[in-house]
Amino acid sequence: MKFFIDTAETNVIRELAETGLVDGVTTNPSLVAKLGRPFGEVIAEICEITPGPVSAEVVATDYDTMLAEGRKLAAIAGNVAVKVPLTWDGLRACRALSDEGTAVNVTLCFSANQALLAAKAGATFISPFIGRLDDIHIDGMELIEEIRAIYDNYFYDTQILAASIRGPNHVRLSALAGADVATLPPDVLKGLANHPLTDKGLTAFLADAHKAGVTV
Ligand code: E4P
Repeated sequence: MKFFIDTAETNVIRELAETGLVDGVTTNPSLVAKLGRPFGEVIAEICEITPGPVSAEVVATDYDTMLAEGRKLAAIAGNVAVKVPLTWDGLRACRALSDEGTAVNVTLCFSANQALLAAKAGATFISPFIGRLDDIHIDGMELIEEIRAIYDNYFYDTQILAASIRGPNHVRLSALAGADVATLPPDVLKGLANHPLTDKGLTAFLADAHKAGVTV
């Protein structure tokens, strides 16, 4: 499973990229807006930090402007994946950008039929939003399972990018359901390594080694 980092904070991305565990980055307009920096500048900096796909989202809602914005974003760096919303205009823009050789991430997916449309439109990634479904008491994980089954039925190579992940359990369940990618808030990625028995075991090992004067 690939791990993307769901943030626009370049210092955090740089720190986590050093672990070798980061395969890409996703941003959205809300995440970029928090920084108060020019959009293009932030995306260019992230693209330099990581060679993996960096999702950058259009803010237009009509086809022509989405296409123009998508082309502008794609020109920033070779690893930009243009993010478009799952609307009719977004699907049209997805097809056009994909046909031009640009990677496209279709975002704000909340149903299996939407995911089917994105695959037919040539999306590189489909982003089902698990957490936001859970927020309204709909099982986000069922959506991942349904998309996996549909894509496998028809051999679509669109990658399922589990998004809106809120905690380690979402990561585990997305991996079990066959999502290709999970995009994780930085704290969730860091939290994946934690287990109280790991800490307890390490403390005991080190105490024994210290007592016996073991050195390496
Ligand atoms: C990533 O591509 C999405 O924009 C992000 O995961 C949304 O997460 P949220 O629902 O926590 O805002």
